Amino acid sequence: MSDLLKKYNTPVPRYTSYPPANYFNESFTAKDYESALDASNASEPQHLSFYFHIPFCRHLCYYCGCNSFAMAKPDKTDRYISALHKEIDRVLPHIDKKRKIAQIHYGGGTPTVLPATILKELNDHLLSTFPHIDQPEIAIECHPGYLDENYWQSLTGAGFNRFSTGIQDFDEKVLKASNRKPSLLPLETIFQILRQKNAGINLDFLYGLPLQTADSFVKSISKAIELQPDRLVTFSYAHVPWVNKRQLLLEKTGLPAQEEKSRMYEQAREILTQSGYQAIGLDHFVKSSDELYTALQNRQLHRNFQGYCTRRTTGQVYAFGVTAISQLSGAYAQNSKSIDDYIERINQGFATVKGYFLSEDEQITREVIETLMCNYSFDWQDLSERLALSVEKIKQATAYNPVRFQEFAADGIISFDDNRMDIKPEGRLFVRNVAAALDKLMLYTDKVFSKPV
Ligand SMILES: C[S@@+](CC[C@H](N)C(=O)[O-])C[C@H]1O[C@@H](n2cnc3c(N)ncnc32)[C@H](O)[C@@H]1O
Ligand code: SF4
Repeated sequence: MSDLLKKYNTPVPRYTSYPPANYFNESFTAKDYESALDASNASEPQHLSFYFHIPFCRHLCYYCGCNSFAMAKPDKTDRYISALHKEIDRVLPHIDKKRKIAQIHYGGGTPTVLPATILKELNDHLLSTFPHIDQPEIAIECHPGYLDENYWQSLTGAGFNRFSTGIQDFDEKVLKASNRKPSLLPLETIFQILRQKNAGINLDFLYGLPLQTADSFVKSISKAIELQPDRLVTFSYAHVPWVNKRQLLLEKTGLPAQEEKSRMYEQAREILTQSGYQAIGLDHFVKSSDELYTALQNRQLHRNFQGYCTRRTTGQVYAFGVTAISQLSGAYAQNSKSIDDYIERINQGFATVKGYFLSEDEQITREVIETLMCNYSFDWQDLSERLALSVEKIKQATAYNPVRFQEFAADGIISFDDNRMDIKPEGRLFVRNVAAALDKLMLYTDKVFSKPV
């Protein structure tokens, strides 16, 4: 493995989108977003996925890599919420009213700093405008440190049916060193409230924080397994103090060594898979009965910025709020990163500050790379049927080169023939490298990326 690491641990995009977000550019304007919205009505997927970014947090965790701000004065929060409603009113006239809502997601920051009544009003604004699929996914990221029984109950009353709860670690020493509060309620109580409503429960963990060891992290994961969440995510802590200076405070306590961090991941993965959880991608784990696992088995798993989804819940994403990124078939559009600037722009029109129009070849490459990243395999004929294009056309749109693929195969990363390509289990760490070999933009890129490990 170490020889492979030496050869392939080189900077490559993470491919959470294609093209990656560092290709978005400022020549893409609000006018371009409007035309992309109009064009989205003629494109697949037909379902609608909506995202709200709520940037506020009660306390800022030192490790945070998300776009989060300390809780603003009530007046600013109110202006932000009205701007969200205004933005919805600007976007909705552009979308075909016969299209159905498949997903509404709230991320942040911490959406649960807002009263559930306000979240319900935002949901209702959309749900009263469009029809929806049977059981659309209405999901929210929750910080359990501040939430009492009434609040959890009011969230289920507001229509939410999937809850991503940020645990990070059960060890209070670890949380304290990261300036984070543990859950206010025992998790058993939260599970009871949510399970009564048949809601899906995800737990988020973070490894690589100060004071964590492989043993202590596995203890936390074991405790989580006893609770039997539907899904569990083990995020690798991304230390990027040049993006968020607060992360430097963690260096005072000291970050675990790289080998210890890798052990945290490997041991957590082992115990999760031994306990019946199925791995989705590198860091998501779900029960065998989960629709994401069924989709993976049928090689129909998809992904957007909000996470993994199935063909049922896949939609073009229309995003609202500061920094929010809309993901349409033909374009990406991102809103301003400053709350004041966002509010000001929305009062005048749209808040788009950058974006990207995808060429036809890039749309094809996106489909191939997304299929590969989610399912660890692709079949040229399947892709050809899905895209209604010849296999030759798809190969030409990507940077596919059998010589590169032979090299990956010789290194034991993939197996492939004329029909399909599969990443071998021992090659999964390098799926990004294989994706990069299909990406024409990587032939001449001047962008900076992180390493796979
Ligand atoms: C927006 S937060 C979740 C909602 C809520 N604010 C909370 O903290 O519970 C989303 C998740 O991102 C992950 N995260 C935050 N900072 C990270 C970092 N620097 N590296 C990797 N994951 C990070 C955490 O696991 C967190 O649960
Ligand atoms: S991890 Fe969550 S609560 Fe902590 S600062 Fe980031 S967004 Fe806010």
